[in-house]
Amino acid sequence: MTPSKKVITPRPLVVGNWKMHKTASDTRDLTQDIVKRVERVANIDMVICPPFTSLPAAHETLGRHSVIALGAQNMHAAKEGAFTGEISGPMLREFGVRYVILGHSERRQFDNETSEKVAAKAISAVGYHLRPIVCVGETLTQREADETTAVVESQIRSSLSGFPSEQIDELVVAYEPVWAIGTGKVATPRQAGEVHTKIRKLLIKIFGPKGSGIRILYGGSVKPENAAALMAEPDIDGALVGGASLDARAFFDIIEAARPTRASEHD
Ligand code: 13P
Repeated sequence: MTPSKKVITPRPLVVGNWKMHKTASDTRDLTQDIVKRVERVANIDMVICPPFTSLPAAHETLGRHSVIALGAQNMHAAKEGAFTGEISGPMLREFGVRYVILGHSERRQFDNETSEKVAAKAISAVGYHLRPIVCVGETLTQREADETTAVVESQIRSSLSGFPSEQIDELVVAYEPVWAIGTGKVATPRQAGEVHTKIRKLLIKIFGPKGSGIRILYGGSVKPENAAALMAEPDIDGALVGGASLDARAFFDIIEAARPTRASEHD
């Protein structure tokens, strides 16, 4: 498939989704280890998303001017209220959080996270100056039934319904085929690249030419060994990394693989 015509080349972004791993004290150690390795890395944005309870520890360890930004793994759309067990945007901001993963397939699968909820959360997130990372992706059954394009398109349309177009610089989309998450089965660069190009075209259709600047991350068994080939695809702008982001060395190697070869492009 011909790549989309990008008007803007987005700056690459690598995000570590720690999922339900690492206590606060483990978080200090891993964060320190990552910071040491990436301190001098330039031309790329880097984010770690520890569990809620580890955000204060990560925030403290990163310090005020860190090259690594902090992200959360979910949030509630409301500012406050009777929502037991939930966390709001302003609560995240207090700990220096700048990004928030929304609609991860594990939440769609196990926590009844619908695209409608994701849309409300994404709108709320930008209202609190949090960059939403909106996740989409098909299951194996859907891929085998040749439904990938329809599923991904419908998830994007409904998860971004009502998203303010003047805020699209803040938006990140992540394509994570469910069958590739935590399974070691990575989509081939071609399989991933094809879907990314379709997503790019759709974003341009929805938001106009500025849609070409929205970062589209690939996620699903990204490892140092496969990162470079995936990142070479023209519409893959970075990675959303699960398991390998819990290993500072592997996370660093993936970041290196995602850095642009022509450094001046993203200064
Ligand atoms: P893995 O990298 O462990 O497959 O997880 C991907 C993911 O779900 C990131 O959000």
